[in-house]
Amino acid sequence: MASTVVSLFSIVLLCITAAQGRKTFHLNNEWPTSYALINDVDGICKTMVETQGYTCEEHKVTTEDGYILSLQRMPMGRSGEKADKPPVLLQHGIFSDATTWLINSPDESLGFILADNGYDVWLANVRGTQYSNGHTSLNPNDKAYWDWSWDELAGYDLPAFVQYVYNYTGQRMHYAGHSLGTLMALAALSRGQELNMLRSAALLCPIAHMNQITSLPTKLAADIFIANDIYWLGISEFNPNGGAGSNFVEEICNKLNLNCANLMSLVTGPNCCLNSSKTVISSEPTATKNLIHLSQMIRTGKIAKYDYGDQGENMKHYGQPIPPPYVMTKISNDFPLFLSYGGQDMLSDLNDVQVLLNDLKDHDKNKLVVLFKKNYAHLDFVRAVNANQMVYDPMMAFFKIN
Ligand SMILES: *[C@@H]1O[C@H](CO)[C@@H](O)[C@H](O)[C@H]1NC(C)=O
Ligand SMILES: *[C@@H]1O[C@H](CO)[C@@H](O)[C@H](O)[C@H]1NC(C)=O
Repeated sequence: MASTVVSLFSIVLLCITAAQGRKTFHLNNEWPTSYALINDVDGICKTMVETQGYTCEEHKVTTEDGYILSLQRMPMGRSGEKADKPPVLLQHGIFSDATTWLINSPDESLGFILADNGYDVWLANVRGTQYSNGHTSLNPNDKAYWDWSWDELAGYDLPAFVQYVYNYTGQRMHYAGHSLGTLMALAALSRGQELNMLRSAALLCPIAHMNQITSLPTKLAADIFIANDIYWLGISEFNPNGGAGSNFVEEICNKLNLNCANLMSLVTGPNCCLNSSKTVISSEPTATKNLIHLSQMIRTGKIAKYDYGDQGENMKHYGQPIPPPYVMTKISNDFPLFLSYGGQDMLSDLNDVQVLLNDLKDHDKNKLVVLFKKNYAHLDFVRAVNANQMVYDPMMAFFKIN
């Protein structure tokens, strides 16, 4: 689950584990008639947090465009002492959900580690994932339910999570995101959103510019999505575990003559430090439009709103013929940022991260911490058995002074 997530076309990973993934509601596209948003019996709190001896609360928030999303809160560590540090909002990446932060042992997983260190931990789950599949008027069988990309994750989901946590706790929070969870924050921050409620942001495997990605399967996936976008938009929901989604993954393997069993490292890079006995990776669906949007970025290297590919359509949505850009240099220079990236990462690849760092070259030096991990690939940042010392300790040191 976890991190798999992350990445864009981690989709691909699914081949590996499609058969072992966690149960999802949408096999065969059949949703339960009442898709109860938060199931107290088998929700994340009950299955992943309380089982480890931690207190956990289920929360929900409705976005301005009607999506009903879930959040889990860990208000104290295993000692039972209430958090004495600010809230931290954790935002997972694509094809994943909040379980990203919980999958390893409590001493290795960021969610538990933050709770044990006195932080008030909030785990977000974006629209379309199994614990955030509610809507005030639509349901996941409706095409309209899937009419979104990361523009909406940054513009609606993130603000709803942040506002909810701020309302509930009365405190400004730190943010930590992995992969697409970093793009959501970068996009919001570049527009000056949420600054008054955030103390800082920690970005693991930052995704911003994407045109130098090195993974062949990812590049091929992007080409296929762009070449056939009309067809793919018709699919609307992209579930890598079933139907068109899993066929797509197979097609990529076949075209490149790859063994799907190796795809995880071909897409995310050779992760150094995963626990080999934790092979189960669950995958969450996403909107096909989201994948097309990411494909546009892989092709162009630009960070902009979704391109409808037609000046008239763009005019209709944006009042201008080309999609408005997200300008990274507009991120407030004094906003505290912690940015960590890996030398082996094939999604948040070195060259693209350099372009982002160049965008941030005027950032106040004492407000920007950059942590490079030579041996780490994309999943190591959420799944490595040594990520606690390698990444989370420095991250918490950064939180402490911001
Ligand atoms: C936060 O509180 C304000 C003021 O009470 C309210 O209008 C808003 O709907 C709340 N937002 C969330 C996401 O809880
Ligand atoms: C790997 O996972 C197994 C099963 O959950 C666990 O028993 C073991 O301690 C883990 N190893 C490391 C190095 O964390």
